[in-house]
Parts: sequence; C-alpha cells; structure tokens
Amino acid sequence: MAWIESIPLPAMRIDARGRIVTANRLASKLFERAPSALLNALLDDLRTTTSAVHAPAAEVPLADGTLLLFSEGALVKGLQQQVYHLSRLASAGRLVAVVVHEINNALSGILGYAQFLLAQPLPTEVHRDLERVHEEALRTARVAQNLLRFSRGGRDDRAPLRVDELIARCAELKRRDFALRSIRLGVDAAGDLPMIEGDEALLSQVLINLLTNAQQGISAVREHGEVTIKARGTRRRVVIEVSDDGPGIPEHLRDRVFEPFFTSRSDGSGTGLGLTLCREILRDHGGEIRVARGRPRGATLRVSLPVAINSSLPVPTASPPQISAPIERCRVVVVEDEPALREVITRTFSGHENHVITFEHGDDALRYLVREHVDLVVSDIHRPGLDGIQLYEELARARPALLRRFVFVTGDALSEETASFFRRSRATVVRKPLRLDELLRAARSVIEQRSGQGELFRELSREPELETEAGAS
Ligand SMILES: Nc1ncnc2c1ncn2[C@@H]1O[C@H](COP(=O)(O)OP(=O)(O)OP(=O)(O)O)[C@@H](O)[C@H]1O
Ligand SMILES: [Mg+2]
Repeated sequence: MAWIESIPLPAMRIDARGRIVTANRLASKLFERAPSALLNALLDDLRTTTSAVHAPAAEVPLADGTLLLFSEGALVKGLQQQVYHLSRLASAGRLVAVVVHEINNALSGILGYAQFLLAQPLPTEVHRDLERVHEEALRTARVAQNLLRFSRGGRDDRAPLRVDELIARCAELKRRDFALRSIRLGVDAAGDLPMIEGDEALLSQVLINLLTNAQQGISAVREHGEVTIKARGTRRRVVIEVSDDGPGIPEHLRDRVFEPFFTSRSDGSGTGLGLTLCREILRDHGGEIRVARGRPRGATLRVSLPVAINSSLPVPTASPPQISAPIERCRVVVVEDEPALREVITRTFSGHENHVITFEHGDDALRYLVREHVDLVVSDIHRPGLDGIQLYEELARARPALLRRFVFVTGDALSEETASFFRRSRATVVRKPLRLDELLRAARSVIEQRSGQGELFRELSREPELETEAGAS
C-alpha cells in the first residue's frame, strides 16, 4: 500500500508543472478516471474535461511536489498534519537507504578481511579478539538493516515475518517512553509462533499506535500502569493482544473508535486517525482488529493476522564464520567498483587453479565477457557507468548463455527497480554485507548448474526465465 492510499480522502501528488505523479483510488473515483488515465495528466486539463469542478481543499508542500487533498475543509485540516508526517518519513527513508548502502559496503570489507584472518592459524587470544570484531560487525549490519526497515514506512514490501521479533522491536522502541511514565511493559510471545507475511514497517506502525494509545489511556487517569503484549498462534491465524490497565473503552464506543477522526482527546493532541490507519493496514494484510469484550479492567485491542503460506521458521543466521570448500579450476570475472570489496571477492576465489579477472568498470567487463569463456561472473548492482543490471541486459542480447553464470552482490534488494529486476531475471543474489560462506555457496550453485544438479541460491520469483542460448558457453 503506497502511503497515499492510506489517506481516507481523494488525494494526489502533482509536480511543479501541475502534472499528476500519483493519485489514490478515491481521487480516481472523484475524477471519474482510471488511475492510469490520471498519471501524467495535467490537473488543469482534467478540471476542464470533468463535469464537476473539483478544487483542492488543501495543499501540502512535499519535498518532491505538492499533495492535493479534495473534500470538505474541516476534514482536511486534521489530515494535513498526518500527511506531512508521512511524507517526512518517506523522504527520510530515501536518505537512510543511501546511508545503509554505504555502511553495507564498508561492512562487507570488514567482514571479509576478518573471515580471511580467522581462517589462518592464530594464537588463541588473537583469534578470540578477531571473533569479537566479526560479531560486532555483524551486529552493526543488523542495526543498519533495522534502520532501513523502520524508515521505509509507506512502501509496501511484504516478506515473511516472525511475530516475536516484530513485537520485540516495537516494544524496544517504546520502552523508554513507557519507563518515563512508570508504565511496565510485559511481552508474552513464544519464539515458535507461526510466521506471518506482511510489510514490517506498516505492521510496526499498527503495534506502535496501539502501544501509544494504551500509554495515553493510562497516563490520562494515573501516574503508573501496566501494558501487556500477548501473542498466540493457531494453524491459520496469529492473534496479538495489547492490554492495558487504563480507563478502558466503553461498550458503546467499541466500533466508533475505528471511525476516522473519532478522538476523545479534548486537548487537541489526537487526530483520531490512529485506529483507522490500523484497521486499514490490517485489512490490507487479510487481518482485522477489534476491541475485546468482557475484560475486568482497562482496554484490550485484539489483532488477528493470517499465517504465511509457508510458515516454517527460518534457519537462524548466527552461524560461526567459516569458509566452505573452494571453487576449483574456474574462470571467474569480478566486477565491483569498491576496491576493498573487489579485493575480498577476488581473494575468496584466488588459488585452487582458478583464474580470476577483476574489473572496476562495467564497460570493460562487457568487452571481455562478450568474447571470453567464463564459468562465473560476480557483479555488484550499483556503480558508475554500466551498472550490474545494464551489464546483464547487454549480455542478454550478446551472450544469453552467460546469464546463468551470474551471482549478484547487492545491498539494495529493497529498491523497487532492483527487486523487479531480480523477479524478472531470477538471477542468483547474495546480500551485502557479504558473508564469504554465502558467496561461495552461491558460486557453487551457479557452477554446478552446468551438470544439472544445481539450485538457485536464492530464488526470488517464479516468473519465466529469460531465454538462453542452447548448448553454448
Ligand atoms: N487503550 C485505550 N484505552 C482507552 N481508550 C482508547 C484506547 N485506545 C483507543 N482509545 C479511544 O479511541 C480513540 C481513537 O483512537 P485513535 O488511536 O484512533 O485516535 P487518537 O489516539 O485519539 O489520536 P491519534 O492516534 O491520531 O493520535 C481515542 O481517542 C480513545 O478515546
Ligand atoms: Mg491513537
């Protein structure tokens, strides 16, 4: 769900020339045009060709254009603030993505060198210290990854999620806030709950809204209190309950609290959109939210979500660093513009009678690849000049059989462009920060495909494969 869809009014974003860049479904209804017909249309043209004259009731300046809201003035005013906040989140998200990309490149170098050293015979103490360095670098990678997830509010990016981890991350975000108000936060969520599937940023927003409501409820009547998040699973659904010992929600308001702009906060601190957004986000995930009945005190909000189709738990990732069996007698091409990373990848494949050829620029790699026999191509995605995707697409024309030899190394599987490329191409991907054991496993799966035994290291889609040149390579 794009953030503009979460606005319960007709809304569109226009650029400086008045051209429509995005519009939500309500806007397409108001202007009686299919969403595709609205895109790129000039707002002025639209006004003269529709029967009704719709003037925007409010305009919100954004970093990349102007957001127009259509409807009654009173409703729009309350929304202006919420929208401004959402758009700020979206642009902060773009900045964070760039920073995390840089951090991942640097961490790939640190992890790579640490793993080379760990494979050497070393005095026990040095080895232990080095393991610390390695662990801390992995921890930094996880922090960067979380930052990326939380900053991405607004873009719909569904993935299998562990409910206990989702709850733990949200609880962590609110813990300090709660402590300042003497509110105890209890979490009761087992690690073996079935997985759910969803957009982590949006589902976090749901839990954070519920925790904030609980906290505001308690603080309105008392100076201390208790909030509990409880999760349990059945074969089909996961139920998450957020309970507090505040004033509770009266029976006659059980449904009304989900209505847009319903708020009891008389000091103007609430927009009354928190629970409305929660309900919309959950509906979009095939879930629902209700106020639970028959609780002796306080309020309990009950969220229910369907379990993921393939809901088995993922394998834990904290395996000890270890460089697995090498690749032998292969011709390997490495295309990477980051010098440290280029060296780490090159050294991973050096020796064992391999012939490793490295390139900083995509154009040089292309010139080599169109004429030489190669067993494996390890390439990053983003770099100046001919990037990874362009290189791949050039080879799709010139030497399609080579496409099966690619392993991409990327820190950017999250951007829409890259994700759609991976879906289209079904190329093998290793994520940054790079772990050498993962790189070697991916490389082996690519090389073994030759004998028909290999599997793709990480299959990202089931769409048809690109054509390949029969028998060549
Ligand atoms: N845990 C709770 N305890 C008591 N009342 C609640 C609780 N959660 C929600 N409510 C009631 O439901 C109303 C609507 O909640 P909602 O989150 O939609 O809006 P808000 O909290 O008033 O404003 P906003 O979320 O935009 O800051 C609240 O104003 C409050 O009256
Ligand atoms: Mg609220």
